[in-house]
Amino acid sequence: MDNTILCECHNVAVGDVKRLIENGIVDFGEIQIITSLATSCPSCREQSLKVFNELLRDVVHVTKVNI
Ligand code: FES
Repeated sequence: MDNTILCECHNVAVGDVKRLIENGIVDFGEIQIITSLATSCPSCREQSLKVFNELLRDVVHVTKVNI
């Protein structure tokens, strides 16, 4: 799943977003600034937000479990 491309325009994969979240970038807008994810056309925005929220939830859950 990590290699799944979320954004064809900017070649951003699920794993790219996951790594950023794991490194503390938890704001979708910041991820967009860094990767250009969903900044050129509307086709990937909804799916990108959905995946971002799922990844964020997973990272927060793992962090709480490991504390
Ligand atoms: S596919 Fe992501 S901006 Fe176009």
